[in-house]
Amino acid sequence: MSIDKAYNVWAKQYDTNKNRTRDLDQKSTIETLSRFPFSNVLELGCGTGKNTAWLIKKADSIVGFDFSEEMLKVAKSKVQSDHVRFQQADLNNDWEIDNNAVDLITSSLTLEHIKNLDHIFHQASKKLIDNGYFFISELHPFKQYVGTKARYETEEGIQELEVYIHHISEFITNAESYGFKMVELKEWFDGETENEIPRLVSFVFIKTPTS
Ligand SMILES: C[S@@+](CC[C@H](N)C(=O)[O-])C[C@H]1O[C@@H](n2cnc3c(N)ncnc32)[C@H](O)[C@@H]1O
Repeated sequence: MSIDKAYNVWAKQYDTNKNRTRDLDQKSTIETLSRFPFSNVLELGCGTGKNTAWLIKKADSIVGFDFSEEMLKVAKSKVQSDHVRFQQADLNNDWEIDNNAVDLITSSLTLEHIKNLDHIFHQASKKLIDNGYFFISELHPFKQYVGTKARYETEEGIQELEVYIHHISEFITNAESYGFKMVELKEWFDGETENEIPRLVSFVFIKTPTS
């Protein structure tokens, strides 16, 4: 099943089924972005608006891109604000938003579905203002190396989604090649103990001004 169709099915239960990755991402997003200033946000793969609902408490405006109509429907019913615009868009295409439009781009649990990270960093470098931040929170590639994938249960059994593995070095190299500097890299664990494979990795990059 294509990724957008799979999310159209998942949409009904995405917010309510047991999902440690989703819950830990919410923690990583809030704990990280509470410490950074922002006002105009572009959210990549906003899904059901789980993070949009928190972001709009701090931001002046948000544009949320997602290609799943059903995920967007849930987001629109959850986050009703004149300052938030949800837009159906495939991130693999050119992003339909002005250049230098935002001071924060966020992407949570979405880039594992995107094959070409180069395109994402290229678009992000155009849409962010100088000194704008790019926050990424993803399933840790260590988890992917041992077989963990985005998945949900259906009456017919487990539905696994198409995913791509992006090594930590790939994020950093792509970011650098489009003028981003890494401000923070964090690994997020399920429990108190760090003697386990981290579930998530998060990055904060800053777009360095071009002279
Ligand atoms: C695991 S969900 C994460 C949703 C939300 N960011 C969160 O943290 O709860 C991944 C989202 O990325 C979206 N997505 C995946 N590939 C995409 C693409 N190429 N273009 C736009 N959205 C995409 C899916 O539709 C889905 O809503």
